[in-house]
Amino acid sequence: MPARTCPSARALRFARICREGRRAVQPSHVPVLLDRVRALLTPALTEPGAVTVDATLGLGGHAEAMLRALPSLRLIGLDRDPQALAASRERLAFAESRVTFAHAVYDELPAVLNRLGVRTVQAVLFDLGVSSLQLDLDDRGFAYSRDAPLDMRMDPSTGRTAADVLNTYDEAALARVLRRYGEEPFARRIAAAVVAERAREPFTTSARLADLVRASIPAAARRTGGNPAKRTFQALRIEVNAELDVLERALPAALDRISVGGRIAVLAYHSLEDRLVKRALADVTTARVPPDMPVVPAGAEPTFRLLTRGSEPPTEAETTANPRAASARLRAAERVRPSTSTATADTAIGTHEHLASERTGARRAARHPGRARGGRP
Ligand SMILES: C[S@@+](CC[C@H](N)C(=O)[O-])C[C@H]1O[C@@H](n2cnc3c(N)ncnc32)[C@H](O)[C@@H]1O
Repeated sequence: MPARTCPSARALRFARICREGRRAVQPSHVPVLLDRVRALLTPALTEPGAVTVDATLGLGGHAEAMLRALPSLRLIGLDRDPQALAASRERLAFAESRVTFAHAVYDELPAVLNRLGVRTVQAVLFDLGVSSLQLDLDDRGFAYSRDAPLDMRMDPSTGRTAADVLNTYDEAALARVLRRYGEEPFARRIAAAVVAERAREPFTTSARLADLVRASIPAAARRTGGNPAKRTFQALRIEVNAELDVLERALPAALDRISVGGRIAVLAYHSLEDRLVKRALADVTTARVPPDMPVVPAGAEPTFRLLTRGSEPPTEAETTANPRAASARLRAAERVRPSTSTATADTAIGTHEHLASERTGARRAARHPGRARGGRP
């Protein structure tokens, strides 16, 4: 096949990133709210043949705990970051025959499941945001506290970088990104400073941007709220990876593929993410009738029930031991009625194969679902 004999530049880049990931990565991400996530998802996963999706596999911390606790559990792990997949593949080697890896953006979940011949699953976990691997590797450019290339792509094999955004967006668009995704009160000032500064020399590294942000905001604002570059870096990261758009599509798609009795848990790390999670769960846990209607007619009942009251933060002890957990907020729900599109709650794995380098397959399946079902690449 042409793809095998003449690999595309993208496939070659992917292979290189995986190789580098295996060599360079010392897995060190501490899974957040691990015990609580496990307690919430386990009741849905005790039947033989149960399948869980880890939509943000990362370094496989949550996945490892679930696979060790439940010896017959099968796990489908997605990540858009090839380095994360390479690292988690090593970590989860003890359960190799029970894990399927997919290099995919999580809104491609339906295509990945279709490709595997899986109609519904018993649990889905989203642990949103960045992993310690991404924050700690200098060349990924996520950290504002160190000087590094301004990249910030979760999948470094595709898309535009943070430097591209800074150097090409017009001033109004930059201000919009900073305001919307960073909730930055000085968005216009920072955008104007970026545009003036890039005319002198395009942005390539993070320290120059962090210094510029600091210099652009009033002195009083510099003294409170931690590093002032934090909001700008968050905004760029969200823009570069289209994080909120993808999440908004992914949540209903994932909920739709959960069987009756199945559960979802979502860990969000900032209010923009948590708002989307809250809204997606409210949509499926609230009856679709006017509030003054005395009875809920058949078919209008909610299809899920909430398992968490509001959002659950980590304990103080966890935050002390792992400061990166501090902003985490957990929400979870259980399916109590079938959805109209997956009326029966059966699960069948047609092909249980490793998909680590088959992103194109997932994309093809998304475009041609009929062709993809159960087929090998
Ligand atoms: C917080 S980490 C997950 C850590 C993991 N739970 C663990 O215990 O090791 C988030 C991971 O999700 C991935 N990710 C973020 N957005 C994604 C998306 N839209 N699609 C697929 N993966 C995504 C990131 O690349 C990162 O590896």
